[in-house]
Amino acid sequence: MKRIIAAATLGFLLTGAVNAETPVYLDETKPLEERVEDALSRMTLREKINIIHAQSKFSAPGVPRLGIAELWTTDGPMGVRPEVLWDEWEQAGWTNDSCTAFPSLTALAATWDPEMALLYGKSIGEEARFRNKSVLLGPGINVYRTPLNGRNFEYMGEDPYLISQMVVPYVQGVQSNGVAACVKHFALNNNEINRHTSNPIVDDRTLYEIYLPGFKAAATEGEAWSFMGGYNLFRGEHASYNPILMNQILKGEWDWDGAVISDWGAVHDTKTAVSGGLDMEFGSWTDGLSNGASNAYDNYFLAQPYLEGIQNGTYSEDELNDKVRRVLRLTFRTAMNRNKPWGSMGSDEHIAAARQIGGEGVVLLKNENQTLPINPAKHKKVAVIGENAIKKMTVGGGSSSLKARHEITPLDGIKNRLGEEVEIVYARGYVGDPSGEYNGVSTGQDLTDNRTPEELTAEAVEVAKDADLVIFIGGLNKSDHQDAEDSDRETMSLPYNQDELIETLAAANPNLVMVNISGTGVAMPWVNKVPAIVQGWYLGSETGNALADVLTGDVNPSGKLPYTYYASLDQVGAHKLGEYPGHKSVDALGNEVYDMPYNEGIFVGYRFTDKNKLTPTFPFGHGLSYTTFAYGDATAPKIFAKGDDKIEVVVPVTNTGDRKGKETVQLYVRDVKSSVERPVKELKSFKKVELNPGETKDVKFELDRSDLSYFDADKHDWVMEPGEFEVLIGASAGDIRSKAKFKAE
Ligand code: GLC
Repeated sequence: MKRIIAAATLGFLLTGAVNAETPVYLDETKPLEERVEDALSRMTLREKINIIHAQSKFSAPGVPRLGIAELWTTDGPMGVRPEVLWDEWEQAGWTNDSCTAFPSLTALAATWDPEMALLYGKSIGEEARFRNKSVLLGPGINVYRTPLNGRNFEYMGEDPYLISQMVVPYVQGVQSNGVAACVKHFALNNNEINRHTSNPIVDDRTLYEIYLPGFKAAATEGEAWSFMGGYNLFRGEHASYNPILMNQILKGEWDWDGAVISDWGAVHDTKTAVSGGLDMEFGSWTDGLSNGASNAYDNYFLAQPYLEGIQNGTYSEDELNDKVRRVLRLTFRTAMNRNKPWGSMGSDEHIAAARQIGGEGVVLLKNENQTLPINPAKHKKVAVIGENAIKKMTVGGGSSSLKARHEITPLDGIKNRLGEEVEIVYARGYVGDPSGEYNGVSTGQDLTDNRTPEELTAEAVEVAKDADLVIFIGGLNKSDHQDAEDSDRETMSLPYNQDELIETLAAANPNLVMVNISGTGVAMPWVNKVPAIVQGWYLGSETGNALADVLTGDVNPSGKLPYTYYASLDQVGAHKLGEYPGHKSVDALGNEVYDMPYNEGIFVGYRFTDKNKLTPTFPFGHGLSYTTFAYGDATAPKIFAKGDDKIEVVVPVTNTGDRKGKETVQLYVRDVKSSVERPVKELKSFKKVELNPGETKDVKFELDRSDLSYFDADKHDWVMEPGEFEVLIGASAGDIRSKAKFKAE
């Protein structure tokens, strides 16, 4: 019998044709679950153990004997990471693995456009597919709890509803290529400081209202095929194999059938990894587990120790079989899916997508006296100042670092677009981080500059003082303690004395635009001295072109902030109440941990500033256009009757300016009277509409009872308390244009 199957398998593998003898697990006409069960039934115990842990830095072995494919994973959320050596972080030295670097996920979130998220996911998924990767280790969607978190740039902001709306199409786009998204880092990995030992202490209501919704949407609506667990602990157990997060919530309440992958080096013992819902172990410190890197994978926690545990009766095979089913499902959906597209790399479409998403994500924060857009008729001489105008940013920042096929710097983008019409002069202004290398990938730039700050400032002032317009391009970069993995920022202030330089430049020439290149909020003490401010993000390969598109008005800015731009940490719940970065403690096993009580609870972001009547520098959802919009009165039924499952809210919006533009109309909900403390308002819907000059559109929203509910921890369920509610229609959380009240039954 075995000979017949072997022959049939060989025949199938050679021809791909399905015939009577084709084993069920190889027959793609059969239901997925049948294939999974058939494959499982054929695997030996050793093969089951092998398939659930890594064989190299980024791959798992499959089952060679049965022709069950290896699973190759790759970072990251903004582009496909260059190939590394088998068991190293260092480069493999390939010459065909340069990618399109897409904008940071904060920039994507700032588009407030799910269509951009779909385009993004499809494009990056095509590049992962072309590189024959089955799992893309992204998107990251951890909530922006503090502006100091080093990886905010990789995530989608502070609001659970915005995250939910943007992560679903991203996941769907990636997976349309037969590549699994791997949504990370589940959950509560909201800081990089002490990331392996942070132990967030979060009540259920906060967990379900703030930190889970994005992940739930990714799992249940996006149907993500894999999740990555975080490094941190939660209620005393590591997130990557946390019984509450993985078994009770993800696989239980959400009935999710995907595979949980550990973060790299996030597994610390076998017993809880077995029972805590982890399905694949990656990145364990192989040199810490064995004497030699060569056999280290056999000594992974879910390798030899697990095998021996099953053989000696410590563990049953039940958990192992569930893990194997999930890995097989992941494999059949990706590596062994014959119907997937072929992908592409560095295509014109991907470059155009990076530029479009970037242009849609740039946020015009301030624009007095129509300082922007650049107008060659009146701006004959433009001074560009700042290191971030010339510094390439796709290299660095941790695991999201890339080897981009190309990267247009802001200065080059401005020159490309205006060089023929306008005199452009540049001055460095300050020296921040002249390096540009990560894991053996180099930007090729040598930004060494040994001049003193005084000399640099003098040159900048000289260049600025008789320019028609000064564009200062500064902000942060991907260095440690800035926008980078494995470290948090130590202050909200701009580094390298930029604040002082900006004030000096503003005094030298009031026609000053500040372009802030960063993935997180910064303090802006000079905000009232600068007439125009742009949040430029990290925009990847097309940075300079996307930025120039907006600065020149070729693209009318329509980005909106995905997080609150605080004036100081005093406005941040995590710092005022939340004891960030936590305090030393000891866990049940005697290990040193950092307890992080999330005392601010659900009051994160605008929820906190609303509650405490604080005025941030710029509110959540804020973003200007080169045109203006007027909002009419919102209308809603007076009663949300028992028999109705939703109500419609309508608000007319008019473009009152002289050029076409897009506006994201935001709908917040307020429970006028509730038995529990609720935020002043919560984002529950938004619509991005494009309007021609003078055009009015009725923007329509639908609300159901879940939009009016809060999470009742005692009932462990969402509860809508009948009574009076109010919808607040805003251009941002700080700019409510219209309201309407109704009674919900
Ligand atoms: C890193 C990151 C994770 C990344 C993984 C592989 O430590 O936390 O986001 O995907 O390891 O590089």
